[in-house]
Amino acid sequence: MTTTVPAIILNNGVMIPQVGLGVFQVPDVTTQQVVEGALEVGYRHIDTAAAYYNEVGVGAALRATGLPRDDIFVTTKLRNGDQGYDSALRAFDASRAALGVDMVDLYLIHWPVPSKDRYVETWRALEKLLAAGAVRAIGVSNFLPEHLRRLLAEAAVVPAVNQVEVHPTFQQRDTLDATAQAGLVVEAYSPLGQGADLAAGPVTRIAAAHGVTPAQVVLRWHVQQGRVVIPKSVTPERLAANIDVFGFELTDDEEAAITALDSAARIGADPAVAAFSQLR
Ligand SMILES: NC(=O)c1ccc[n+]([C@@H]2O[C@H](COP(=O)([O-])OP(=O)(O)OC[C@H]3O[C@@H](n4cnc5c(N)ncnc54)[C@H](OP(=O)(O)O)[C@@H]3O)[C@@H](O)[C@H]2O)c1
Repeated sequence: MTTTVPAIILNNGVMIPQVGLGVFQVPDVTTQQVVEGALEVGYRHIDTAAAYYNEVGVGAALRATGLPRDDIFVTTKLRNGDQGYDSALRAFDASRAALGVDMVDLYLIHWPVPSKDRYVETWRALEKLLAAGAVRAIGVSNFLPEHLRRLLAEAAVVPAVNQVEVHPTFQQRDTLDATAQAGLVVEAYSPLGQGADLAAGPVTRIAAAHGVTPAQVVLRWHVQQGRVVIPKSVTPERLAANIDVFGFELTDDEEAAITALDSAARIGADPAVAAFSQLR
């Protein structure tokens, strides 16, 4: 089975497949096999980061597949400890070398780290990479409304995306609204709540009604709300099911029942205070 995934157009005209594979916590030694399996069932978008320490595995899969490089959208991210103008440029070169690619499709500042106050300076490095043609799009991750406001006031290039934690029990609507109002696409990370949201009553009930899995219901809910999603799975059946969410549709009531699950259940760190270096 292969699935064709629609693309969303970013604010600079670049197209991003709406469903991608996230590889957070996939060990580098198994990453090549997982990514190759994903490409076989139709994934054309892979989300990694320097801090995941598996860019080499992703790159190996890109080379092993028979697919043209241009067919696969690859995102990686700048580690917190590499923020700063010169250090960001050096870190980008290291990521590009680890991936073994000429061009990265999307490069993100992984966290704002407001306590260091270097994200504006770091953004200038990403703007330089964009101007040099080393990346097709640049964006941010974990940026709260106040970080977006500050960056937008000083940036020459508006970020293309904000990758933030979103799942039924954690929707941070203020961040989603600020992101959309500024013309950025939201990428939902931990879109399944790392599995924790899949047992919720409305999710299992709607899944049974459509004859699909709870994960497909939650991913379909994201898709209908216009977000890019990057679920992670190393399990072949889940990998295939998670991308197969374009053959059914949730009704308005079903969508609303999932939206009503919002309960501020954050899984990841709070970007207002997170300051870890991500360096080993
Ligand atoms: N920018 C950031 O700061 C940030 C932070 C966190 C994550 N991310 C990105 O977002 C991606 C996804 O987030 P995540 O890994 O935290 O969480 P997630 O995708 O919400 O959940 C992954 C977990 O759910 C399980 N799972 C996947 N598909 C399933 C299915 N169909 N049925 C039941 N369980 C299923 C996986 O298990 P198996 O793998 O065992 O199948 C894994 O334990 C990451 O890989 C990363 O690329 C970014």
